[in-house]
Amino acid sequence: MGKRKEKKKLTKAEELRRIEKLTKRGRSDYVEVRGSVIHGRGVYAVKNIPEETYFIEYVGNLIDKDESEKRAWAQYEEHEQTGAAAVYIFNLTKKWDLDGNVEWNPARLINHSCEPNSEAIQDGKRVYLQALREIEPEEEITFDYGFDIECYQDHPCLCGSDKCVGYIVGREYHKELAKRLKKAAKKEEAALEKTDDEADEEK
Ligand SMILES: C[S@@+](CC[C@H](N)C(=O)[O-])C[C@H]1O[C@@H](n2cnc3c(N)ncnc32)[C@H](O)[C@@H]1O
Ligand SMILES: [Zn+2]
Repeated sequence: MGKRKEKKKLTKAEELRRIEKLTKRGRSDYVEVRGSVIHGRGVYAVKNIPEETYFIEYVGNLIDKDESEKRAWAQYEEHEQTGAAAVYIFNLTKKWDLDGNVEWNPARLINHSCEPNSEAIQDGKRVYLQALREIEPEEEITFDYGFDIECYQDHPCLCGSDKCVGYIVGREYHKELAKRLKKAAKKEEAALEKTDDEADEEK
């Protein structure tokens, strides 16, 4: 039976150097953080970003699956209490995930859009944001959070795109969401008609 390798505890100086290195890796000349029209803070292009460019690295802490599960539950509980949706943990390998919920990772502030201009690309144990098309200066950077369709009501989308589907759900669920919204609208209409009929009967 193989012994699990203990993670070496870093000295304070080593930890500072590690974070300094990751902070540098997470910086990008292409973008800056600003107040967003979509939500809170967001990330904006400050110069032209050609299609397919890896324009910022999504940095964070490598965590093993046990730790990842713990953090995912903690984030889920926070979501239950505050409504905040967590989108910081990337699945990297069978053993490792990447938790980007650290202040030295500006890419964590990228908002979701139903018509995104970038996507997260994994390269080994590293994750980058790649432009899906040419992005012009002043455009807000967005990507598809890929949320599941269950509990879609908890995540209304304010991306403002003409193609906005109203809720933050992954592209693969857009069709299914349209079906569910249609069904819900019909149900609401029927309930309204019933209340109108009941009111008429009372007259
Ligand atoms: C990873 S944060 C993104 C940065 C966030 N704007 C901030 O200032 O902290 C994810 C949160 O941003 C908000 N958000 C992101 N995209 C959104 C969208 N399209 N519509 C509404 N809220 C959005 C949601 O509250 C989500 O839980
Ligand atoms: Zn939207």
